[in-house]
Amino acid sequence: MSKHATLNGKTAWITGASRGIGRAIAVALARGGVTVCAGARSIAELQQLSTVMKSEDKIVHPLELDVASRDSVDAFAEKALEIAGPPSIVVNSAGLGIWKDIDQLEPEDFDRQIDVNLKGSWYVARAAVPHLKRLGNGHIINISSIAGRVAFRRGTGYCASKAGVNAMSEALVHELRDFGIRVTTIAPGSVQTGFHAQALSSAHHGDMDWMLEPDTIAKAVLHVLSLPDEALVNYYEVRPLKPAKK
Ligand SMILES: NC(=O)c1ccc[n+]([C@@H]2O[C@H](COP(=O)([O-])OP(=O)(O)OC[C@H]3O[C@@H](n4cnc5c(N)ncnc54)[C@H](OP(=O)(O)O)[C@@H]3O)[C@@H](O)[C@H]2O)c1
Repeated sequence: MSKHATLNGKTAWITGASRGIGRAIAVALARGGVTVCAGARSIAELQQLSTVMKSEDKIVHPLELDVASRDSVDAFAEKALEIAGPPSIVVNSAGLGIWKDIDQLEPEDFDRQIDVNLKGSWYVARAAVPHLKRLGNGHIINISSIAGRVAFRRGTGYCASKAGVNAMSEALVHELRDFGIRVTTIAPGSVQTGFHAQALSSAHHGDMDWMLEPDTIAKAVLHVLSLPDEALVNYYEVRPLKPAKK
């Protein structure tokens, strides 16, 4: 077997695949010959992605998924296993951010960010790990954020959730390397997606030209997946070269 990883013929689970970064990763992996099990709540958007990729002879299975619900994660995993077999690549990209002062942020909004960003990534990783262990290899990629390392004002819930993702990922790096399974945290700076309509519009006046493209994060995913088997990238931070517009 080649010392270098090849994507063709592998199966991936990708959460948050209906839009933004997760969708760009789903497209990039499918174009690399991966059978993609694409999860999100917006099934119509996933079906549209599946149809587009089918026109290129690529496989994306649209699967309804709410990562904040353990039952939904279990149902997603069961369905994905049934139609595509065990995954060897798992990408947690589902997430949201809400920027508010602590006395304006509803407790439900704090909980939601922890439930989706942190607990959701943990639920999906937990569902995948027994299959990766049986394979004796595989790669879990958690899309975190620079906010997990460098916290900012009005981001109490989001920064805490992403710091949690970083810590969880790092714990998993150590736990799973003995099984031949790699775990990578990818921590983007600002990326041009709909995420900002909710989280950042007031901070950046709606101007997103200076931000990274979602495809650039997909390229970062392809990069870590393409490294030789002996290499483990635990943390990968990528930020826009241009400074943020104030
Ligand atoms: N954009 C940035 O500047 C930026 C920077 C650093 C890190 N990130 C991180 O990158 C990840 C993707 O963000 P994005 O920019 O691509 O945002 P986005 O365009 O708003 O997409 C968010 C994705 O997450 C999915 N999602 C949200 N809640 C979900 C749930 N409960 N269950 C399943 N899927 C859910 C959404 O699908 P449905 O609504 O259909 O469920 C959608 O596919 C997030 O973890 C975010 O924190 C983004």
